Amino acid sequence: METFEVIEKRRSVRKYLDVPVEWEKVGNILRAAQYAPSAGNLQDWKFVVVTDKDTKKKIANAAMQQSWIEEAPVIIVVYSEPYKTKRFYGEIGEKIYSVQNCAAAIENMLLAATDQDLGSCWISAFDESMLCTIINSPKNVKPQAIVTIGYPDEAPITPTKYHLYDLTFINAWGSRIVNPDLVLDNWSDVILKKIDEAKEAAQKEATPLVRRLFEKGKEHAKKIHETIKKKAEEQKERKKKQQKSSEEEVLESTEEAEY
Ligand SMILES: Cc1cc2nc3c(=O)[nH]c(=O)nc-3n(C[C@H](O)[C@H](O)[C@H](O)COP(=O)(O)O)c2cc1C
Repeated sequence: METFEVIEKRRSVRKYLDVPVEWEKVGNILRAAQYAPSAGNLQDWKFVVVTDKDTKKKIANAAMQQSWIEEAPVIIVVYSEPYKTKRFYGEIGEKIYSVQNCAAAIENMLLAATDQDLGSCWISAFDESMLCTIINSPKNVKPQAIVTIGYPDEAPITPTKYHLYDLTFINAWGSRIVNPDLVLDNWSDVILKKIDEAKEAAQKEATPLVRRLFEKGKEHAKKIHETIKKKAEEQKERKKKQQKSSEEEVLESTEEAEY
């Protein structure tokens, strides 16, 4: 798949088929995480792959009872190692970089899953201490996310997204790009807008045109009606005259007969 197609196609999938995921595909997902950027290239992350049914059930319970999680054939718990980023960058490394590094890795994982026709979901609502107990992880690492993976048994619709116009500024906060669709190469939006504008313009033009044609038609119909009426009256008049002249003829002949 093309990169942008994968980005657009990725959805949070929360219903999976009861079909095992090939290890090769799981490996590709982990490799995608491995290639994510990280501050100072510290790669302060660890991935725990879970396939055991009982462990998955416990993880779902620790994730605020999101029971659908246990139905995912594969779960990967993503851990950060904040002590590493702290050593190099102090507090900002511990609190921020470690989270951001894992986030980059997680997104790569989701995209790699999508690219292999797998569904996935990023889950961060969980009880940290419960999860750490289940995984038996050391004290100096911190779970950042649970990622579910499996063949999708649903096709979620794309949730609504804010328009780029509302999300983008240029050079300074609040400074709007005049036509962000055009500037940011969002051509499909530009074309759609143009089609709408053309439709609106055509309708605007068409309404008076149709009205003019209708008025003309009415005028024409009125003329025809008047001509027919006139002809009918003429015919009536003619008939009347004919009748009168034939009556006079009859009268004349009877008068003649009397003499
Ligand atoms: C930091 C983070 C935490 C999330 N936690 C959960 C979660 O606990 N449970 C869940 O079902 N989805 C979770 N999600 C998925 C979001 O609900 C989902 O990404 C969002 O609704 C947009 O839908 P999409 O992923 O299909 O684009 C999380 C996503 C992120 C980025």
